[in-house]
Amino acid sequence: MHNTRKINDDVYWVGANDKRLSLFESAFPLPNGVSYNSYLVLDEKTILLDCVDKSVSGVFFENLNFLLQDRKLDYVVINHIEPDHGATLNELVLRFPDVKIVGNTRTICMIKQFFDFDIDKHAITVKEGEEIATGKHRFVFYTAAMVHWPEVMVTYDAADKYLYSADAFGTFGTLNGNIFADEVDFDRDFLDEARRYYTNIVGKYGAQVQAILKKAAGLEISAILPLHGPIWRKNLGSIIEKYHKWSTYTPEEDGVLIAYTSVYGNTENAANILAVKLAEGGVKKIAMFDASVTHHSFILSQAFRFSRIVFASTTYNAKIFVSMEALLHDIAAHNLQNRTVAFIENGSWAALSGKQMKDILAPLKNTTFLENTVSLKSSVKQNNLTEIEDLAKEIIMSLPKQEQNIVHESKVEPNAFFKITYGLFVLTAEKDGKHSGCIINTVMQITDQPKQIAIAINKSNFTYDLIAGSKKFNISTLTTDSHFDIFERFGFKSGRDTDKFAGFEDACEKSENGLYYITRGVNSFFSAEVISSADYGTHVLLVAQVSEAVVLSNAPSLSYQYYFDHIKPKPAAKPKAPPGKKTYVCRICGYIEEGYDELPDDYFCPLCKHPREVMELQV
Ligand code: FEO
Repeated sequence: MHNTRKINDDVYWVGANDKRLSLFESAFPLPNGVSYNSYLVLDEKTILLDCVDKSVSGVFFENLNFLLQDRKLDYVVINHIEPDHGATLNELVLRFPDVKIVGNTRTICMIKQFFDFDIDKHAITVKEGEEIATGKHRFVFYTAAMVHWPEVMVTYDAADKYLYSADAFGTFGTLNGNIFADEVDFDRDFLDEARRYYTNIVGKYGAQVQAILKKAAGLEISAILPLHGPIWRKNLGSIIEKYHKWSTYTPEEDGVLIAYTSVYGNTENAANILAVKLAEGGVKKIAMFDASVTHHSFILSQAFRFSRIVFASTTYNAKIFVSMEALLHDIAAHNLQNRTVAFIENGSWAALSGKQMKDILAPLKNTTFLENTVSLKSSVKQNNLTEIEDLAKEIIMSLPKQEQNIVHESKVEPNAFFKITYGLFVLTAEKDGKHSGCIINTVMQITDQPKQIAIAINKSNFTYDLIAGSKKFNISTLTTDSHFDIFERFGFKSGRDTDKFAGFEDACEKSENGLYYITRGVNSFFSAEVISSADYGTHVLLVAQVSEAVVLSNAPSLSYQYYFDHIKPKPAAKPKAPPGKKTYVCRICGYIEEGYDELPDDYFCPLCKHPREVMELQV
């Protein structure tokens, strides 16, 4: 039975849908099927704009018979001869033997390649700008080479101001009764598939699409009637704008596409960690795909959508994993440009995929490769976490300001300030790549709006040197769960001659400002920037603006009293000074000094490096 829809008094949709086809062009999955549009104009003469795929020929010819009644078909315009539209042309000629076939020289040539009937007997060859009048309607032809084949043209009806646009402005997905874009939620139901259709079918030919957009700009258009998907009769600017972006390889959105392949899940693990770091850094638009699972046509489409792309692949037979290699070649073949790209590679004995992935994409125009590459050996290790964090930071920094860590504001958790007591804290800092930290006991909140804190630090501490240079520091609030090793590490040694974070990787992380904070035995951390300082002799008072304040646990903050009572080890027995000598015990670390009668003025505890004032004489 026929199934048509009226577009205006003279014009009818006579196409059909195919929900059964699994692969369009034997290449692209069709989760929502596809429509083959054809348009019949009943004027003084009758004219058909394109045919349909063979799979829907039955209803197509019923549609023509129903609308033509006993009229003959005078013309068929072949805007595009590719078989998804042209395969029914020979049957059309058999059914309507007097029909004239309108095409350009390339069209007629290609029809001869596909069919054996006497085309010359039917052909009307048209050139750029030539027209055919059917009565009220006047059809003007414009070439649109490579959108999508070289013979493609578009037809403009000067009476209705309709642009019959061939594949241009088409989309995958069937028309479910509603054949107009304004009858559906296009952005929700069709935009992704319109992008996938465009990018995969004509994405390579951006310059040619630009050329047809320029021609269209010179026409007054009331509706765009493509060969696939909904007809545009309202809000034409929205789809034209998308075509401008896609054809100039301009990202639609500042966001991050992560495409990965993973044999045993370890490369996937790295990709997932990166996604979380990006999200924690405020990136809202993140798309992730396993390229071995998701057909590359979907991923290619998202590559046209997003501005930043991360490819993560294991090394396989000393090459890129096969499904990732296919995706990368596909992206390169479609001429993607203007993207910022980074890589994660993996290899249990030779991680080679990163360089090879870059080599495939290097020829693409205006492609920026980020400096940080994550290189895994089998699985994500602690050093890789740092690499992933650095990559996340670089991606975030490459994004426009409004896409960057908007979370800075929201990451200042008011509850974190409730953890501050007159207790003990690890103060950490960094300058020129050197990280260090020390124990301090003075942190206080000064103002709520803005969030400002003050700390006091001994000027002799190496950590103070770092802060004096960088003006940044982190505070980690120690809890009653903290172990003495933290005090040994950060309180008893100097950062001048030891790396305080060596072997401590499982108990610290970096905050947004790139400084370490402690994650074990800590209930909160603060990142701050120094805004003023006051010198008080041995110590400096620093006032700082908080940029990040995060609650890490509900454990009680540590007081000095609790430290002395429960954490600091007690000497086994009260030391006794040898004859003629006195015994001193370091109040900070418990070190026992027995070598002096009187400690010299420049004495420092050899264990924790605190000055002689902390040494208590034992009596
Ligand atoms: Fe819809 Fe290029 O065929």
